[in-house]
Amino acid sequence: MDGRDLVRSVKAIGSTGAAQRLRTVRAAWRRRRTDASGLPPRGAERARVPGPVLSVEPGPGGGVVRFTRSDLRITVTAGGAVFWGWDGARPEPSYALAGPSPEPDPRAVLEPDKNGAWRVVAERMTVVVSRHGAVEVRTPGGVTLRKDLPPRWWEPVGGGEARWMQRSEVAADARFFGLGGRASGPRLRDGTYRLWNTDPGHSVGPGDDPLYITMPVQMVVADAATHLVFHDSTWDGRVTLREGEEGAGSGHDRAGTSDLRMDGGPLRCWVMVGAPARVLHTWASLTGAAALPPAWALGHHHARWGFGSEEEVRRIVGGYHERGLPLEAVHLDIDHFDAHQVFTVDRDRFPKLPVLAEELRRDGIRLVSIVDPAVKAEPGNAVYDSGTAEDAFVRDSAGRPVCGVLWPGESVYPDFTRARTRRWWGGLYEERLSQGFAGFWHDMNEPVSFTAFGEATLPRSARHDLEGRGGDHREAHNVYALCMARAGYEGLRELTPQERPFLFSRSGWAGMQRYGGTWSGDVTTGWPGLRASLSLVMGLGLCGVPYSGPDVGGFDGSPSPELYLRWFQLGAYLPLFRTHASLRAGRREPWEFGDDVLRHARVALVERRRLLPYFMTLAHLSRRTGAPYVRPVWWGAPEDRALRDCEDAFLLGDCLLVAPVLDPGTDRRAVQLPRGRWYDTVTEEVYEGPARVLIDAPLSRIPVLARAGAVLPVRGEDGGLELEVWAPARGRTGGGLVVADSGDGWEEPEIERYMTLRTGKRVVVQRDGEEGPEEPSRPVRVRGLGAL
Ligand code: NOJ
Repeated sequence: MDGRDLVRSVKAIGSTGAAQRLRTVRAAWRRRRTDASGLPPRGAERARVPGPVLSVEPGPGGGVVRFTRSDLRITVTAGGAVFWGWDGARPEPSYALAGPSPEPDPRAVLEPDKNGAWRVVAERMTVVVSRHGAVEVRTPGGVTLRKDLPPRWWEPVGGGEARWMQRSEVAADARFFGLGGRASGPRLRDGTYRLWNTDPGHSVGPGDDPLYITMPVQMVVADAATHLVFHDSTWDGRVTLREGEEGAGSGHDRAGTSDLRMDGGPLRCWVMVGAPARVLHTWASLTGAAALPPAWALGHHHARWGFGSEEEVRRIVGGYHERGLPLEAVHLDIDHFDAHQVFTVDRDRFPKLPVLAEELRRDGIRLVSIVDPAVKAEPGNAVYDSGTAEDAFVRDSAGRPVCGVLWPGESVYPDFTRARTRRWWGGLYEERLSQGFAGFWHDMNEPVSFTAFGEATLPRSARHDLEGRGGDHREAHNVYALCMARAGYEGLRELTPQERPFLFSRSGWAGMQRYGGTWSGDVTTGWPGLRASLSLVMGLGLCGVPYSGPDVGGFDGSPSPELYLRWFQLGAYLPLFRTHASLRAGRREPWEFGDDVLRHARVALVERRRLLPYFMTLAHLSRRTGAPYVRPVWWGAPEDRALRDCEDAFLLGDCLLVAPVLDPGTDRRAVQLPRGRWYDTVTEEVYEGPARVLIDAPLSRIPVLARAGAVLPVRGEDGGLELEVWAPARGRTGGGLVVADSGDGWEEPEIERYMTLRTGKRVVVQRDGEEGPEEPSRPVRVRGLGAL
């Protein structure tokens, strides 16, 4: 920590000192009292299972199977996903779905199966319902992908929300991914994972669970097929996963299991089957296309909790400029607020924010503002006053506003599950826009209320509108941030209709990609934190949230120059490339770690800028197809087991394979390659996959490989778009898609399709034109021709 940091942190400690501690003690007691009187008492419960089948009622896309003590509605939809719900549960209402649930597939019908079972045959799967309510998903070839045993409910005797449990079996070779953002993944090992969005209150590493974004979404990858399953209940829950074991040909395989226990909500789920790309495409059509970031948001961002003043922001930006380091955005954290109050500015330390924003914008740099949901509960605070007039804040079961504690002290929380509150909140971004901010960073929205003991969130009995249905925080908690993102996004769409909103949010739930991205939260500074960063980005991508990235360098403490550099080199290939750190942490500017680091960090920054057209293409493809930018190496070959178990490398789109350095003292690393020819993008050395190869990884770079035949849109020296083509192997072809979009508006750029073909020493590149193949009008540079 240097002198500047010390001054800033002393200032900040004032607001988290003794008075704040006292508030957290009071708030903890208040929460306990509120829940003691506001929650239904946990009395005796009655267990229930569906019982034997009684009758069936065919309907569009499937129908209803009636059991003695429940019924099961199954609908195969036209998009290929299948829905089933117990106890009359239907797809709607749902916070995850982007619109009305898709039409039933008229070809799918409920028909009798063996042993009194019933089945629905669809194009990509067959669903078989046993006499006692087990539900099996099979491939069209008859291989079982998932078997849900009959569910079990526990109902309060006097009525009320039922808890439930669903055990599922998957293939012995299956691997689990997803469940939102998990620091210990991307492959989810045996263990219990909680479904309750949580700020752990400290910097996080692979052992911390749950974190900010949890989702009841599992991607299960097995030899027979990949499937995604989504249990659409927002309540608190736990998933216990256990991978299976294969009996080495003995015929005694042990199935993998997933036990899902939920505290409430409907027992309903969606299943999608197919190749990973197909599964995520279906998932995106169900939950909505990912918001398209403006082009600048794909560049480099620099953030810090505690810039503390306009001068300091200018100093940092100047530092980037003097050293020729590309920079596209600067983020202001809570220290620029007036006494930590959201939608305000500390005029002493940031007297002319709009002028600063304008100056930066002239240099191609955008300002991004943090936005916390908690509003200081103090008459005279304009946001509090207008929110009170709107009746916007969460109340307890007795009708009193719920008072929690956040940075500004005692605070109230908007009820984002109410449409009117969302409209009011969305309007508040006008103040931010008038200060010159171009993007928004939603934080502390799990939501957090600091507490001396117990859970650091709102009381479970706090009331929420839930779109007019009414309910409490047990149901609303996990979608609080999702609804806040919706409020911000929709507000910005109205305030600046000509621009794409840029918003990313720490917490969220299934469907959050509709409004923006996220980041990895407070990842701890250390090699485990670096690994966790990658796990979070990959896992979220597989849950349909493609845009995210870590705090480069880690949130707390001071990384060694080596760790900082390796983090920086990884960050340069992730969608959100942002350096950020805590108030008390050491420096994070690339020049603070010595000349070598500066030199190598510059290379990473310059390469990121060169790759911007590729990132933009990936953003468009992600929006149209649901494929994340960052994909596990098994993406195209989930049946390759060596790839399925590889967690330390990733595919960036179709063209590149990135193998970050995740351990200290590395100058060479093993890389698991998918099938085909790959080129080291720096040395042009050739590798043939599938194979495990050793590749040099000196401090100056991490291995980045290009797929033979790939067409990569890059930024040329003059700023124009060029095509970097990697020679296909002899006699082979290749190709790629390019979406040329440098802006932040809504025009729909066309997709350019290129084909590459190698004949002898020549590589032919053609564009797919309306009347057949044409010469590309963009400059082409062929690489990798030296190889045989
Ligand atoms: C917690 C966030 O995760 C972090 O990024 C931010 O700097 C602090 N809150 C302060 O706003």
